[in-house]
Amino acid sequence: MDAVGAFRERFGGEPEGVWSAPGRVNLIGEHTDYNGGLALPIALPHRTYAAASPRGDRVLRVTSVQTGDVVEVSLDEVGPGTVGGWSAYVAGVPWALAQAGYAVGGLDVAVDGRVPLGAGLSSSAALECAVGAAISDLNGLGLLESDDARAVLVSACRRAENDIAGAPTGGMDQSASLLCRPDHALLLDCRDGATEHVPFGIGAAGLVLLVIDTKAHHALVDGQYGARRAACESAAATLGVETLREIAIGDLEGALSRLPDEVERRRVRHVVTEIDRVTATVAALRRGEYAEVGHLFDASHVSLRDDYEVSCPELDVAVAAARDAGALGARMTGGGFGAPPLRSCRPTRWRRSSGVWNRHTAEGGSARRSASRSSPAGAPTAIRRRRDASEGRGGGGVGRAARLAARDRTPGYTNAAYRVLVAASAQVRPLGSAPPLSML
Ligand code: GLA
Repeated sequence: MDAVGAFRERFGGEPEGVWSAPGRVNLIGEHTDYNGGLALPIALPHRTYAAASPRGDRVLRVTSVQTGDVVEVSLDEVGPGTVGGWSAYVAGVPWALAQAGYAVGGLDVAVDGRVPLGAGLSSSAALECAVGAAISDLNGLGLLESDDARAVLVSACRRAENDIAGAPTGGMDQSASLLCRPDHALLLDCRDGATEHVPFGIGAAGLVLLVIDTKAHHALVDGQYGARRAACESAAATLGVETLREIAIGDLEGALSRLPDEVERRRVRHVVTEIDRVTATVAALRRGEYAEVGHLFDASHVSLRDDYEVSCPELDVAVAAARDAGALGARMTGGGFGAPPLRSCRPTRWRRSSGVWNRHTAEGGSARRSASRSSPAGAPTAIRRRRDASEGRGGGGVGRAARLAARDRTPGYTNAAYRVLVAASAQVRPLGSAPPLSML
């Protein structure tokens, strides 16, 4: 079943349209966003789809392919603490838009989350942004029409997550979901919201980027994320700065010497050095010095593991295994506490035999690509409008092939204890062209 099927089954009739938004992988710049720092995410081909129709009243009905339940709430009753569970990420969006002064009516929405849940790949932001895109179009808000308009949607989706879902996250994920462009990483300056699209064409250098799902589940609403954030804010207050971004790398030692708390010293060291690593990574990418990018990945992981303490044994093992297998560099990505690691290496195909992962040099992407293309046409024909949050980004609309490809790939995530995803630079290609992404 997909979003349209769920819509028909649970609500009856056809949705007005289907909107989608991608998850993201952060290349580097972890736990910097809420410190006014720099981050460098790319969009994933994995998306969340929202089939939606407007209603004539103030009711929001939400269902999902993954959970099967239907949650119904009056928009007038949504507020901090009033909606629980996954539907809070949906209900929060019209609430936040209304708070920002936009007139938003009721709607029925069926979502199909194709971004792995709880894997540090921003499934929650993809959900918020897909719903936000639907609401914008259904209510004629025009919030997908320019980067400035999208910035409004970014901030509404972030508020939904912070205030209604209760996750005190920093906004990088929503920015990535709505602002990333194909074949580019998004250099995001969280101090002033400035963005720059940095070419990310590692494929031309014979490199791929692997995202390894350790299956170690993570959550951002269990207090650990908030505790890191609070430590940073406390350190910033002690140092007399608005955010840790104000601490230049050259002033780090002096700043550390003014912090009495050992834990806060380590948190600050991570944030300040990580921001510096983002700048260095962008410079290395621009020069095509990928070995240097790998070193920066490695240093980021050590910093997140030892100073920020957001890694976990599964991540450390996967990162070490990646390096042992010849990766140029490897690091955990996302919030941590169990999120998947990221590695950059020469193209390699992994197969499992006798319980062991072996590397093969066989071409991995093309078979699946052609399989996706030759899939029977299964997309609903009743859709009158489709809208993709990448439209206008140079990403094109979400095509049927991509949608089928997403469906084809998804089961791979659920069937094995340990999966290697060969994402290559294809993760930032227009989805309509069915990206060369292999789930092995
Ligand atoms: C989560 C949050 C982001 C960011 C990352 C860590 O993904 O949603 O805002 O803080 O963790 O970099």
